[in-house]
Amino acid sequence: MTTASTDPINIGLVGLGTVGAGTVNVLRRNQVEISRRAGREIRIRSAAVRDLKVPRDCVVDDLTLTSNPFDVTDDPEISLVVELVGGCHIAKEVVLRSLQQGKHVVTANKALIALHGNDIFQAAHERGLMVAFEAAVAGGISIIKVIREGLSGNRIDRIVGIINGTSNYILTLMLEEQYSFESALQEAQRKGFAETDPSFDVDGIDAGHKLAILAAIGFGIPLQFDRVHVEGISNVTLDDIQYAAELGYRIKHLGIAQRTPAGAELRTHACLTPVNALLANVSGEMNAILIEGDAVGPTLHYGAGAGAEPTASSVVADIVDVVRALTTDPGNRVPHLAFQPSALTELPLVPILEVDSANYLRLQVIDQPGVLADITRILGEMEISIEAIVQKGASQDGEAVPVIITTHRTLEQQIVDASMRIEALETVVAPITRIRIYPDGA
Ligand code: NDP
Ligand code: HSE
Repeated sequence: MTTASTDPINIGLVGLGTVGAGTVNVLRRNQVEISRRAGREIRIRSAAVRDLKVPRDCVVDDLTLTSNPFDVTDDPEISLVVELVGGCHIAKEVVLRSLQQGKHVVTANKALIALHGNDIFQAAHERGLMVAFEAAVAGGISIIKVIREGLSGNRIDRIVGIINGTSNYILTLMLEEQYSFESALQEAQRKGFAETDPSFDVDGIDAGHKLAILAAIGFGIPLQFDRVHVEGISNVTLDDIQYAAELGYRIKHLGIAQRTPAGAELRTHACLTPVNALLANVSGEMNAILIEGDAVGPTLHYGAGAGAEPTASSVVADIVDVVRALTTDPGNRVPHLAFQPSALTELPLVPILEVDSANYLRLQVIDQPGVLADITRILGEMEISIEAIVQKGASQDGEAVPVIITTHRTLEQQIVDASMRIEALETVVAPITRIRIYPDGA
């Protein structure tokens, strides 16, 4: 039997921005408690940044700062590299180089894991090294650990969540304080929630990366971001938020991974969510994830989805996990993607046009006799059942007015085809805004 080392362990950080500085602050503030939990003192030895002159939101006097990330990855005194740069270029090099150098890795980088995780885990597996990525999904919520460990006795049937803090923050400011989309986004950027390129947030890409990870560990399938149907919130207007409220809904951006008889649906998009649903009441940068397992039933996990210290909470938890596991037989560690690498299976993924959902449609139509009849005729011919139809206000001099329609569940292909036919009417003067309505039973 070997005796576990209690020597201090040196770690290195690459990136000292929002999350990097938060990680340094949490590690310093809670140093004693963290060491008691990890069983060893954790020392930050060095950190790499892009620009050495930028002031930092953490104390760096006792760290070696460098602008060369490979000074960190190649330092023989460092056992664990924490990648907090973001993106897939330098971050991928840092992670692969760290593994080549025999170092464990902690990362908060969902894009990197979703797009290159299969290769990274393979490289780590071959060398008996750990790659931990709790902070990559839902910031401070320990959702990876919940699915990979806490729910490992279940067949996971459905994962539905608010998994992009920036989108939820924008929708909340638009609903509660009538912010415009642009000013709400600027506020999210100022608070450090948004990605370097905020289109990743508002176009649903960041949520898509996270959903690919959740689906992999929930369903035991390989990471496949390219098969996730991705939509964001850029088309949601203050009017849509108001009309949805009048109909008893809040607009939320959701990630949905669910098993159906045809396979698995993986999609991210805005969704009209009934005001009394738990997810409708998740505000600001908070995230919440509903997981349904066959044994446990529905479980809900809530917490801050972005921000310096909530994210650092997950980064530090991963660091502690790695330090604890350093004395464990590599073959008996929790597998990266929850299932043993040789046991991943292919599950058919349902194309988005075969998904069915109820819909909210906002049309801009010329207010003249016969317009609504034309629209309802097309919907009827396409076998789409209308739940409600409301014209908002009356026009003067034939101006366009909004018409709101909600439909019962219908196949995506039918609503796409019907929308094209309706948009071709001369009296319909703008592209239709379509937002799906929250899935039944979620
Ligand atoms: P920031 O942009 O705030 O920080 C990025 C850091 O990386 C900066 O310190 C920057 O240096 C450094 N950096 C960039 N390029 C290089 C390089 N070539 N060499 C060395 N250092 C470099 O990002 P965040 O902290 O917000 O995000 C980091 C990661 O965490 C991303 O993957 C993000 O998706 C993820 N994440 C972020 C959350 C958040 O709330 N912000 C939440 C969950 C995950 P410099 O400061 O000198 O420019
Ligand atoms: N930009 C991301 C978000 C950060 O807003 O959710 C957390 O992953």
